Amino acid sequence: MAELGHEVIGIDVDPVRIESLQKGIAPFHEPGLDALLRENSSRLTFTRDMSAAADASVHFVAVGTPQSADGSVDMTYVNGAIEGIVPYLSKGDLVVGKSTVPVGSAERLSAHVTPTGALLMWNPEFLREGFAVEDTLSPDRLVYGIPEGTHGETATSILDDVYAGILAKDTPRLVMNFATAELVKVAANSFLATKISFINAMAEIADVTGANVTQLADAIGCDTRIGRRFLNAGIGFGGGCLPKDIRGFVARAEELGVGEALSFLKVVDDINMRRRARVLDVLTEELGSLAGNTIAVWGISFKPDSDDIRDSPALDIAESLARSGATVISADPEGWKPAQARVERAGLEAALSTTSDHRTAVTGADALVIATEWKVFQDENPTTIGELMSQRIVVDGRNCIDSRAWKAAGFRYRGMGRS
Ligand code: UDX
Repeated sequence: MAELGHEVIGIDVDPVRIESLQKGIAPFHEPGLDALLRENSSRLTFTRDMSAAADASVHFVAVGTPQSADGSVDMTYVNGAIEGIVPYLSKGDLVVGKSTVPVGSAERLSAHVTPTGALLMWNPEFLREGFAVEDTLSPDRLVYGIPEGTHGETATSILDDVYAGILAKDTPRLVMNFATAELVKVAANSFLATKISFINAMAEIADVTGANVTQLADAIGCDTRIGRRFLNAGIGFGGGCLPKDIRGFVARAEELGVGEALSFLKVVDDINMRRRARVLDVLTEELGSLAGNTIAVWGISFKPDSDDIRDSPALDIAESLARSGATVISADPEGWKPAQARVERAGLEAALSTTSDHRTAVTGADALVIATEWKVFQDENPTTIGELMSQRIVVDGRNCIDSRAWKAAGFRYRGMGRS
């Protein structure tokens, strides 16, 4: 928003986050974000004081909506943020919901906002971690969920002013009612999750038939109706969005009495979770047993160029290996930092250690699992790595390395749906 030329006040309840932002440092790893914070520092202030919102006319609510124990969406933070902001709203203000919420939430929250004379709209965001800056400043589309009638027109024109710089680039802008806008977000993530689980189901078939899932994806992806993107088979999807969004969507559909419509998403989730178990099975086949072996895992964060370890398949696999009696060393250029505390909380620090250096991790290891496709891992020289290891076994959990080069360096190569 500051890059688009606006004066921005960022409010959060977390003192550590605010302190870091006040110093111009993003509290997480996101390429390009620190530079933007520096360049726009004159238009940016950060505070824990909610009353600072009184100075603004447009209020974005972008707090998290984590998964509750029963799989439904935990709305505590959204409800709290709306409740917190209401005393500081003035007539003519606009509240813009960005958070991913169960369908029906905007309608409900609108009843709290409109008595102040302010308007509420829902404007879901579709940014990918690792590409957050690019996706925010040059999105594929803008989605506006607006109230009915003239209020909707007023809200649309205020947000058009806010996004003038983006709209000038001919970015598609789709205007719809609250329910549709809320559904667009979860439908998009459900579709992406389904695409990944589809190709992972093909990987299961490929493993027992000798087919190669990467070549299969290349071939079906040539059909423009299918498309090649998001057809990378491997250990499946993780992160703070896809897994919890499909579960939250299923829970909401069940509440609405149409659970059957989304029963396929439970299968998508099951296929996804089976991928993690598959890595342990392959290692057991190769090593005879997991207990007593030392296993290096390259990757901790759920995807490259991120330090996010929420629902990370890489970390989940490392923890399962440690629980199975293996000694595990996990390496990740960024994810090693947040992982340390989680490993301690899980009581696994004796069996699972973390490092930023992937070469340290493989030294003396009996097998290597590549669980997150950081470029630095893909660029590694297999001969050098082989010389550091006790046994040359590599499980390519992301089908991301050159299998021929690794085999030529003496490795037993096991891919996910390809050999
Ligand atoms: C996702 C959506 O892409 C984004 O639009 C939404 O706003 C938030 O959720 P993100 O969580 O950053 O973004 O990650 P994404 O790039 O979608 O990847 C999700 C997971 O799927 C990762 O664990 C990734 O490794 C996995 N993945 C992705 C695959 O396993 N195969 C693929 O082909 C693509």
